[in-house]
Amino acid sequence: MEYDEIMERVKRVVQTPARPIPPETLEKEKERFYAARRRSLEIFEEGKSLIPGGVEHNLATSKPFPLTMDRAKGYMMWDVDGNEYVDFLLCGAPIILGHHYDPLDDEVIKIIREKGPATGLTSEFELLAARKIIENMPSVERVRFLQSGTEADMAALRIARAYTDRLKVIKVEGSYHGWYDQYVMNLHIPGTGGLNSKGIPPSVFEHLVEVKPNDFDALEKAFEDNKDEIAALVLEPVGGESGVHPVHPDWNRRCSELCRANGTLLIFDEVVTGFRLDMGGAQKYFGIDPDLTVLGKIVAHGYPSAGAVAGKAEVMDICGAGMGVKPYLGGTLAANPISCGACYHAIRLIEENDAITKSTAYADRLVAEVNELFATRPDLPFFMYNFGPIIHYVTTGFFAVDITGPQAMEIFQRKDIAEEYQMVASSQGLNSLAGTRMYTCMQHDQEALDRVLSTWEYIMSLLTSA
Ligand SMILES: Cc1ncc(COP(=O)(O)O)c(C=O)c1O
Repeated sequence: MEYDEIMERVKRVVQTPARPIPPETLEKEKERFYAARRRSLEIFEEGKSLIPGGVEHNLATSKPFPLTMDRAKGYMMWDVDGNEYVDFLLCGAPIILGHHYDPLDDEVIKIIREKGPATGLTSEFELLAARKIIENMPSVERVRFLQSGTEADMAALRIARAYTDRLKVIKVEGSYHGWYDQYVMNLHIPGTGGLNSKGIPPSVFEHLVEVKPNDFDALEKAFEDNKDEIAALVLEPVGGESGVHPVHPDWNRRCSELCRANGTLLIFDEVVTGFRLDMGGAQKYFGIDPDLTVLGKIVAHGYPSAGAVAGKAEVMDICGAGMGVKPYLGGTLAANPISCGACYHAIRLIEENDAITKSTAYADRLVAEVNELFATRPDLPFFMYNFGPIIHYVTTGFFAVDITGPQAMEIFQRKDIAEEYQMVASSQGLNSLAGTRMYTCMQHDQEALDRVLSTWEYIMSLLTSA
């Protein structure tokens, strides 16, 4: 679906009152959800006295309570109560070969058995992994492994500042670049300002310049107002939140031009798009040449300790190993043999299996079929769109509400309703991300698609005509 149509349809969703599940029906759905998930609830309740909030990760937080998973295989997952789910969360994007993929697991287990998990010194897997990334990503000549996407985003900023000898950074509102102090502003939803986190000194934001998504005038003004001061422009190349705020077709090109003209480094955050949108990442997909590339979870395909900052030799070489005056980066377990071995073999297997082409073709089919289903209910403005194997579905549009306008307070109600749909979807055996997003893998098949269709048919059947 083209950008203009996506934006037009999002507007329609936001202008249409969100459609809650009628209270009596919702009550029954809740009862059904609770009855089938007693162990998950127990674990959550127990967890509250051990883990703040009872659950560790943002991705795992869901209403009415988070589900505890037992295992995953292919595109399936099973929770601790034995319920099965067709999974489209895929660990928040990195799983494109399918969960627990034997050919990858075998290689990793071999490394653990033969080499051990880590020595704190270099292993050959580091080279193998770096070479695989460099071979595939057009702008990348050097790679430095870290332990998460957040760390890699932190490092990219430090490198850009050190290289340009400037302090300021431009970021796009609504984008996600991990939880580092300087990125936690206007997170997820443009205009939310500093509401997302306590504990960050306001002075941290002195060097942050923000622009609204796809606001070309604001972008140009940001460069004009901060002449010779902007070290880097950092962005998610398909738009904030992996395209929840979809990128305008000319945005990346214009960002690149302005960076070149102003001696600013362009940082592509490819934590989600790298080795998912294309083997060469979003930079190849859009034909843009960033200076720095941030990689995350996908470079170990779900194995722990995954992150890398990568880029042009001229820029990256300022962080040569050892002590001295250079951007200081660290991480005892960074570049350990397991993560680097998983990285090398995952990229090799993605390539050998043509996993991106398969996942993309599947996503295209899924989006077309679900949109056909949605079209049978013209009273509901629901729709789906995708950037390759990254799918977004828009039902209540809570993320697109203008927080500075009269509709601001609707965000909460719209979010609640999306979460109610999500709860019903879980009961129907469908798992996705935050009530708005689905990732596909090379193993998804017709059966999985049938589950998506039957789930949405069911949810729509609960939404009686107004
Ligand atoms: C675009 C983007 N950047 C950075 C991150 C942070 O990565 P991590 O969770 O590995 O710290 C994420 C995580 O989802 C992401 O989607």
